[in-house]
Amino acid sequence: MSLASLHRTPPILRALLAQGLAFVGLVVLARLGLRFPPAVWMVLQAVGAALLSRLLGLDTPWVLLQAALPCLARALWGMPIPPWVYLILFTVLALVFGGGLLTRVPLYHASRDAWVKLEALLPEAAGLRFVDLGCGFGGPVAHLAQMRPDGHFTGIEASPLTWLVAWLRCLPLPNATIRLGSLWRTDLAPFGVVYAFLSPVPMPALWTKVQQELPPGSRFISHSFEVPGQTPHQTVPVAGREGARLLVWFL
Ligand SMILES: C[S@@+](CC[C@H](N)C(=O)[O-])C[C@H]1O[C@@H](n2cnc3c(N)ncnc32)[C@H](O)[C@@H]1O
Repeated sequence: MSLASLHRTPPILRALLAQGLAFVGLVVLARLGLRFPPAVWMVLQAVGAALLSRLLGLDTPWVLLQAALPCLARALWGMPIPPWVYLILFTVLALVFGGGLLTRVPLYHASRDAWVKLEALLPEAAGLRFVDLGCGFGGPVAHLAQMRPDGHFTGIEASPLTWLVAWLRCLPLPNATIRLGSLWRTDLAPFGVVYAFLSPVPMPALWTKVQQELPPGSRFISHSFEVPGQTPHQTVPVAGREGARLLVWFL
């Protein structure tokens, strides 16, 4: 697997890989007979994981988190933390990210630049209906609903805690609705613009759904992920991960 293809894997997997490789490096050093105080091993793990994270294309918040994790683990080591704390932490993480593990669509976000460029791709006529399939924390829906009070903006989200964050974020916006559920059970026919930022996995099935349900004159916008064999009518580069862009099809 090349470095470029590794860059396209979900950030959480790259983060785990970076920590794992850094740890293997420490094992090699120990096998070579090097002996350090525990704090030095911790710093080596933190620096190694941060450098490898950067090499694997993770952005700055991830790199900082990667450097902090070994320090956190060392600080918590031996502390009398009751097991239920770990259970709650695991449950929260599963509720936010678990849907992504099942659907192979992880949680990551379009940049603010993508929101602005998305806005420019909306039809100008009033009464527009827009849906974000897999809306995450609701950034694009909230932004567009504020910028286009003449339209209605819907987000569909499968992970319960992620949905809750998006729902709370859009609660003050009268022209935004956030629904908990699967994009596959959402009828696309009422929408003039369908937007999705998912992964390569669902794109062929999503294209079939778009073709079956979207009326002529509507548009489908995919953030970064191509539809195999379907050339987009417009491509707009956006800030974010390498190669981030909006792919637009006019139906
Ligand atoms: C990459 S995030 C995109 C977030 C947001 N749309 C954006 O552009 O910033 C993809 C989201 O889709 C959600 N998701 C994955 N499969 C889904 C499904 N079948 N139905 C609804 N949401 C889904 C994930 O939980 C995740 O929050």
